[in-house]
Amino acid sequence: MFLQNINGHTASPEGHNPITLIGFKASATKMQTLPSPGESFTCSGPCYDRAKEAKEFEETKAGVKGLVDSGVAKVPRLFIHPPQNLRDLSSDTDGAATGLEVPVIDMMGCEDCRRKDVVNDLRRALETWGFFRIINHGIPVDAMERMLETVKQFHEQPEGVKREWYSRDDAKKFRYYSNGDLFWSKAATWKDTLFFDFPSGGLEPEAVPVLCREPVFEYEKHIEKLKRSLSELLSEALGLDSGYLGEIECMESKTMVGHYYPICPEPELTLGTINHSDAAFLTLLLQNHHGGLQFRHKDQWVDVSPVPGAILANIGDLMQLVSNDKFKSAEHRVLARQAGPRVSVACFLFPRGTRKSKPYGPIEELLDEDNPPLYRETSFPEYFGYYLSSGNGMNGEAVLPHFRVSEPK
Ligand code: OGA
Ligand code: NI
Repeated sequence: MFLQNINGHTASPEGHNPITLIGFKASATKMQTLPSPGESFTCSGPCYDRAKEAKEFEETKAGVKGLVDSGVAKVPRLFIHPPQNLRDLSSDTDGAATGLEVPVIDMMGCEDCRRKDVVNDLRRALETWGFFRIINHGIPVDAMERMLETVKQFHEQPEGVKREWYSRDDAKKFRYYSNGDLFWSKAATWKDTLFFDFPSGGLEPEAVPVLCREPVFEYEKHIEKLKRSLSELLSEALGLDSGYLGEIECMESKTMVGHYYPICPEPELTLGTINHSDAAFLTLLLQNHHGGLQFRHKDQWVDVSPVPGAILANIGDLMQLVSNDKFKSAEHRVLARQAGPRVSVACFLFPRGTRKSKPYGPIEELLDEDNPPLYRETSFPEYFGYYLSSGNGMNGEAVLPHFRVSEPK
C-alpha cells in the first residue's frame, strides 16, 4: 500500500521520491521481452538493464495501457515476475468449488434492530478472514458505477491528454502514473493508477481533471458516511464503546486509487498487483465485472469475484496491530488476465498526518495477563516508512512481523 498510494501508490512519508530524478527517452515497444527458450532468465543473452528499461517505460508516460495499445504481443522483461511470485496463478480456487464463501455483512438495520447481529457477523469475518463483502451499505449503485466508469474513461483517453497528469510528485493531490514502485520493485505489475489524496482540509476540485471531478467527490461523500458507520461497528466488534476507534482518530485520512488493469498477452508471466497486505487501517474496494482479485485464506488463494453493488472491505496491518491480532490483515493480489480491462477503486483509511502522527499500539482495553501486547507502538508514518523503505510491502513479504515484541501464547 501507500508508496504511490497507501499501497504501492504515494511517495514516501519523508517525501523522498527517487522517481522524479529520472529522465530518459525511448519507445516502449523496443523493450526486451521474455528470453527465448534455453536463454537464462537471469542474464545470459543480451544483458538486461532493468533500470534503463524502467526509465524508458516511465518516459513514455503512457503506462501499461500504452504498451498494450502499441500492440505488444509479449510481456516486456521489466514486468516478468520471478517464479515465487507466480505460484498458484490459475484461478481454480473458485469459492463455490472449495466451499469457501467470502463473508457477507448486510448492513440493513445495523443502526437499530439488527445491530447485534451485524456486529457479531463482523467480528467473525475479521477474526477468520480479515475481509468481507458489504451489502446494503448505503452507497447508491449509480455513484459506484460512475466512479468506476470515470476511472476507465480517464485511462482510455488519448495519450496526449493523459500524459499531462503523469507524475510522481507527492505534493500533487491528483496524479496518474504506472507502478508507484517502478524504480525499486523487483518486477513491475500490469496496471496503471490514478491517485487522489484527500488531506484533512479536503481535496480542491481544481486539482482533479474535470472528467473525474463530479463522480469522485460524489463517491467520496458516500464513503465518508460509510466510514463513520464502520468505525462504530468495528469498535463494537472489538468489544469497545462504539466511539472508540473514532476517538483515537485512526481513520481520519484517506487516499483513493483508481487502478486500470489492461488485458495482458501473457498473464502467466506477470501480476496485476503483487501479493501484499494493506498498511493502513481499513480499505474499501470497488471493482468492475472483470475478476482477478484473490485473497489468501487458509493457505490458499480464493477468487473474490465481483458482486454488483457490493463493496469489499479489508483491514490493514495497523488494524491488526491495534487489535493485538484479534483481527487479521488479509493478504491479497490481483492476477493479470487476457480478459479486461479490470477497473478498481481502493479507498485507504489511515490516521491524519503522513509526516507526523501519534503512536498506535495494541489497545489497552484488549490486553490482560493472558493477552500481552504483541506489538510495539508505532506511528503510521513510521510503519509506512518501513513498509516502503524495506521494499517489503510490495515485494511479497509481510511487514507487520518486524513490529512484533512477543509471540501469542
Ligand atoms: C491495492 C489493491 C486491489 C484491486 O491497491 O492495495 O489491493 O483490486 N488493489 O485493485
Ligand atoms: Ni491492497
